[in-house]
Amino acid sequence: MTDPAELPQWHALVAHAESSGGTHLRELFDTDAGRVERLTMDAVDLTVDFSKHRVTQETMKLLVDLAEASGLRARTEAMFGGEPINSTEGRPVLHTALRAARDDVFTVDGEDVVADVHTVLDRMARFSDRVRSGEWLGHTGKRIRTVVNIGIGGSDLGPLMAYHALTPFVDPDIECRFVSNVDPANLVDATRGLDPEQTLFIVASKTFTTIETLTNARNARAWLVEGLGGDSAAVAKHFVALSTNADEVGKFGIDTANMFEFWDWVGGRYSFDAAIGLSLMIAIGDDAFRQMLSGFRLMDRHFRTTPFEQNVPVIAALLGVWYRNFLDLPTHAVLPYSQHLDRFPAYLQQLDMESNGKRVRLDGSPVDYATGPVVWGEPGTNGQHAFYQLIHQGTTVIPSDFIGFSEATEDIDGMHDLLMANMFAQAEALAFGKTSAEVAAVVDDPDLVAHRTFAGNRPSSVIIAPKLTPSVLGQLVAFYEHKVFVQGTIWGVNSFDQWGVELGKALATQIASELSSGTPDPAKHDASTNALIARYLDR
Ligand code: F6P
Repeated sequence: MTDPAELPQWHALVAHAESSGGTHLRELFDTDAGRVERLTMDAVDLTVDFSKHRVTQETMKLLVDLAEASGLRARTEAMFGGEPINSTEGRPVLHTALRAARDDVFTVDGEDVVADVHTVLDRMARFSDRVRSGEWLGHTGKRIRTVVNIGIGGSDLGPLMAYHALTPFVDPDIECRFVSNVDPANLVDATRGLDPEQTLFIVASKTFTTIETLTNARNARAWLVEGLGGDSAAVAKHFVALSTNADEVGKFGIDTANMFEFWDWVGGRYSFDAAIGLSLMIAIGDDAFRQMLSGFRLMDRHFRTTPFEQNVPVIAALLGVWYRNFLDLPTHAVLPYSQHLDRFPAYLQQLDMESNGKRVRLDGSPVDYATGPVVWGEPGTNGQHAFYQLIHQGTTVIPSDFIGFSEATEDIDGMHDLLMANMFAQAEALAFGKTSAEVAAVVDDPDLVAHRTFAGNRPSSVIIAPKLTPSVLGQLVAFYEHKVFVQGTIWGVNSFDQWGVELGKALATQIASELSSGTPDPAKHDASTNALIARYLDR
């Protein structure tokens, strides 16, 4: 397949970066009066100000040329058309069908899947209504007060992130807790203080073979049965499953009548708008969940139909490629100015790094250019008092996304203005800095001038939406999903597999049997690992 780094459009960007990549944002703003208007774009309810990026009109044109040359249009249509673009697993990639309207058509092997999607959504809605209203009773006849989602990776981060994000929409009578880690502390903490009679466990696993999830689920079942006097019939009213694998769900002992299915054309990290979102639906209700889906759908349409020059996920992706491949910047920060988005950076870490952390192209040939960046972040203003020092004055330039909202979901005495003022200030300070002349004019001690100077020229996007509603959350997530897709397309990698997690899983299984039997098998490991195992067993 084509090596993108061999394309003339790539070479043009290399030359362009050499000749103009260092131009300071101060100069870019001083010489281009139309910049802010031209580089501020709308997508549904999101407004994104891309003007504080180290790009000129020429840069943007060359990046769009690269997108065209990469085959992005054809691959986008192949994705929406249900073609098996996840070639290493032989699967279509149709998370966009999960938020389809009832009369939309998405086909897999010639069969429309939208009716199936809505059948499951309707079942989820009936079930969550029953739990929320108290009609669904536990084994001893009491209503459910706590829902514990047991899952990991995409079966945890999505619903957890969205549960936090939509806190103001959550039913105060039902609490959701999340167990993911195989560290027993996680399950112990999540069940602490709970009444088994009023607890519902949701076992969320696409494959239903994930060791962490099944181990936690088995121990949760033991906790429940013990708490209900040893009656294993209780499981029927206290355990439901979310999975693509009915056989394994049945083997675990959950009645498949209490299973909400999804399909192998949904990647785990793209699945919380499918059945994996059941805990969220119970928390916020069916209506709010469907508003979230409509937000996803509106962003899908923006992505599929808007010319690249105004296409917000495409432009965000191209800027990421510019920094990663042409200005050699290895990380990307996501900085939400919203406490409710505290888990959003972690969610995006999986979405982006599991998708584009790849070193071979679709045909298996090695890449000779950088692919996915390290994605990280924390909400502001907290990050300002921790790691922003490095973003402002460190030696690594970190392109950043600031995310904020015009209106607070719940304000107290103007606090939201202060929050947003900080966000605008950070983006301004990063871009324009403070010159040594400006510092010298206000600082008495000349020895401090260098320390107090801000170089600036540090790029960021500022993403603003009216309010963090379910629809806006859907829009934000779909925006990042499509951004990741565009970058994967340009890099020519498969953004939908994750073989890189397999080796560690296989080794952990081997080592787990050595630890539990107390019998190390040195022939299976290197000297360092053997020494660590021996030390652990010598306790
Ligand atoms: O090991 C990685 C991974 O497969 C992720 O892609 C996935 O989200 C997670 O594990 C959980 O998988 P499952 O939902 O099948 O338990």
